[in-house]
Amino acid sequence: MDIKSSWKEKGYVDEPVPAGIDLRTEIDRLRRERNAVILAHYYTEGCLQDLADFVGDSLALAQKAARTEADVIVMCGVHFMGETCKILCPGKTVIVPDLNASCSLAESCPAGAFEAFVKAHPGHTVVSYVNTSAAVKALTDVVVTSGNARQIVESLPADKPIIFGPDRNLGAYISRATGRQMVLWDGACHVHERFSAGKLVELRRRHPGAKVLVHPECKGEVVAQADVVGSTAALLKYARESDARTFLVVTESGILHEMRRLCPDKEFIPVPPDEPGCACNECAYMRLITLEKLYNSLRYLWPVVEVPAEVAARAVKPIERMLDISARLGL
Ligand code: 13P
Ligand code: SF4
Repeated sequence: MDIKSSWKEKGYVDEPVPAGIDLRTEIDRLRRERNAVILAHYYTEGCLQDLADFVGDSLALAQKAARTEADVIVMCGVHFMGETCKILCPGKTVIVPDLNASCSLAESCPAGAFEAFVKAHPGHTVVSYVNTSAAVKALTDVVVTSGNARQIVESLPADKPIIFGPDRNLGAYISRATGRQMVLWDGACHVHERFSAGKLVELRRRHPGAKVLVHPECKGEVVAQADVVGSTAALLKYARESDARTFLVVTESGILHEMRRLCPDKEFIPVPPDEPGCACNECAYMRLITLEKLYNSLRYLWPVVEVPAEVAARAVKPIERMLDISARLGL
């Protein structure tokens, strides 16, 4: 297929959707025709989560990709998630409907600078958050997600120091939780860094019975106020199982869609970011994925995620190590 140079420049198929079609019906038809599986992260728009074959956190999406029998994987999420799928399934076509869907953590950690950081700390085990480029994973001993970081760090030999990158907040949280000293890369997520301890204190005062659900990418003073700290899947599980009726949600607001769907009789209040006048906290990268771009990507089977073979050959090892440890621990 001839991919227009203007699309290549833009990183997505910039084509009008034909008038009068029902996008959901057409997406359904195309996914069957292409033998495609549509995966979506909890932070994407609700309409994408509703039509995805599978919705999950970073760990579950990687596990699902590793097992799929589809020929095409469409990742409604960000670029590093597509790279993880491509590394695990090199023979499949992997699509992220807009290649500009990056991640502030991956952006904060260029492979060249990370390599120098690793070289400056010889003898350390290199633990990288999944929110990194394939090139950074290729420099890593074991990859983690927010859903397994604590258990994986606990499983590492106690006598060997650890480098953790790129999220300083998640790293500090895991270091406190495990008692392991870690050298931290100085990166952060533009969504989770914006939550402030002050706004949360104020909301807790207004909702005294509410439980506080916090993602570990938040700053330490925010994490300190949590009833539960965990990955998006762990926060959902807690909300579902808890007897509480009201929850203050301190993570990207896309997750409210699944929380409200699973627990229609409970109240979920998104904690706003620190900036005045701003009601909810969205990931600018996740919001680049739209229904129209998903439709066009299935129509043209583009844009595809590519990972150079020599990078993929090294990056697959720490990802598989993560999946193996997670399977062993039942995560
Ligand atoms: P989890 O899906 O592991 O909770 O991670 C959140 C995130 O920021 C994904 O980019
Ligand atoms: Fe990256 Fe933050 Fe967006 Fe997650 S929410 S993809 S960590 S920028």
